[in-house]
Amino acid sequence: MDRDWLDELLSKTDLVHVASKYVSLTKKGNSYWACCPFHHEKTPSFQINPDKQLYYCYGCHEGGNAITFVKKIESVESGDAIRILADAAHMTVPEFKKDKNSSDIKKKKERLSMLMRDAALHYHDNLRSPSAKIAQQYVKQRQIESMVTKFGIGFSLGRSEMLEFLKGKGYTYAEMKEAGIAEQSADSYYDVFMNRLIIPIINPYGSVVAFGGRLLEKDAKFAKYRNSTQTILFDKSKVLFSLNLVKKKKQRDGIDSIIITEGYMDTISLFKAGFENVVASMGTSLTLEQAKQLKNYTNKIYISYDGDGAGQKATLRGLDILESVGLNVRVVKLPEGLDPDDVIKNYGADGYKDLLSSAVTLTTFKIDTLASSYDFDDPDGKSKFAVEAIKIIKKLDNPVEQEEYIKHIHNLTGYSMAILMKQAELTYEEEIQTQNDTKTTDSLVAAEEFVLASLINEMPFADFAEDVFPHLTSEQAMLAYNLALEKYKNGYTLQSMFNRADGINEEYISKIVNYNFSISDDKKKFDECVSLIKRRSLENQKEKLATQYEQTKDFEILKKLNNVEKQLKQMKKNGGYYG
Ligand code: GTP
Ligand code: MN
Repeated sequence: MDRDWLDELLSKTDLVHVASKYVSLTKKGNSYWACCPFHHEKTPSFQINPDKQLYYCYGCHEGGNAITFVKKIESVESGDAIRILADAAHMTVPEFKKDKNSSDIKKKKERLSMLMRDAALHYHDNLRSPSAKIAQQYVKQRQIESMVTKFGIGFSLGRSEMLEFLKGKGYTYAEMKEAGIAEQSADSYYDVFMNRLIIPIINPYGSVVAFGGRLLEKDAKFAKYRNSTQTILFDKSKVLFSLNLVKKKKQRDGIDSIIITEGYMDTISLFKAGFENVVASMGTSLTLEQAKQLKNYTNKIYISYDGDGAGQKATLRGLDILESVGLNVRVVKLPEGLDPDDVIKNYGADGYKDLLSSAVTLTTFKIDTLASSYDFDDPDGKSKFAVEAIKIIKKLDNPVEQEEYIKHIHNLTGYSMAILMKQAELTYEEEIQTQNDTKTTDSLVAAEEFVLASLINEMPFADFAEDVFPHLTSEQAMLAYNLALEKYKNGYTLQSMFNRADGINEEYISKIVNYNFSISDDKKKFDECVSLIKRRSLENQKEKLATQYEQTKDFEILKKLNNVEKQLKQMKKNGGYYG
């Protein structure tokens, strides 16, 4: 970010004004005082010095300028804090990666946001209409009447009611389609959520970005839920349902953890029962984006997925990613066949609280899930379980922790600690061996995926300067590279990029887009991967050219061969010779 621009932003920003939106300030002498929004207190120890434009809390020692204040209080990254301040100061953030497109995109986003807001309010009003009797009954039967206003729950009165309303407000069908509300069949547009109960998905800034629509009655012809498609406002891999309410709760009372459920209804039901620190992942496994967002709010996560096989598998998939950003993860074990909503209904808030307090660590959960898939009455089953369980704990880097879990396996199986420790040593040697074996065969593919994923996801350490393109190993990889470049140059969003993916294998590109980055990924790894791809490609060329030259003694081929050898030597000299 441009220094001068930032200075200008800060000079146009008044911290007193910014903070006054969140806390009630009292002037004493030259400075302003308030109860600190970052910790609980009854007497003010949070001070703003208007001359220096800095704040400091004498209680919790939190301090900084307007940017850190917004970052902290809005639970966002610096970039977003800057954007919020820039909006307030009527300045445009210089987006060096983007061209004039970006202001068009911004305008479009504002327009669609307005449309979504109008639609949400109207769906919500519809729920009170006399023609919404069945929806009102449904809400009553699910015991969520008291949550209707809080969550802005609504109802779609059929095929075209909403579209006519929006038309009357001056929106076009094309806009409704872009917002994910309308679709075209034959020659007419229809409301994709028709006759469904509407659950708006609202981002932490309070904008409605999507809807979830639930069928009121079971119908084999239709999916139980219809969620908004990806739009320029909505990327479901980045959004968590009800995070807006968690943010409010955090700003009001503070939170010590966040509970993640699978579904809208679970979230609404927990909220009603007093657990306001709850979000839903909307039926998909968690992404790195979501994990990073959560990390801005809390350090502790309770995973509270359905107590069935599918729920548990989904659990395992999303969880490592949470730990990878440094979140402390606990898994809430629900009784078989029940979801959080059922637990609240059957055992009440206290019943759920008990389950929270007996939540287990991720490793315990993995071991227990593994145990449930072996038959312990069969000695073979029991020993196989022990071997596999030890593989899980070998991934922990802390030996003390490892021993704790070996105790757990000992309790489950009855094998002696000594035997289990011995097995753990053997497993270690095997692991090293397999790691070495797979390294040589898979490393090129892995490096290529990592580089492409970094470029497409515009990771901070990725750059296009390294011209890796001609060295990529497949046509798919080259298409993916071009797509990433086009996205970067034009400021396309990830989702709009999918529309441009002509000729590309969806599965391949999805894998790249949804790559699981780890926190240790950095510039060094990126550069090493680029070098590996180049070196393998050059070595390949060298081999081919050498054979060709052997056969033809063609001077042109010799020149090419020399050139390739020179490049390889150069790489070695630059230290870019890994793998
Ligand atoms: P209820 O069944 O009404 O209690 O809702 P729930 O929120 O508990 O839903 P469930 O546990 O069945 O599913 C979890 C989440 O997955 C839902 O909240 C939806 O976001 C999503 N989901 C479930 N069914 C469908 C479906 O048929 N289509 C789509 N697109 N998403 C679904
Ligand atoms: Mn459910």
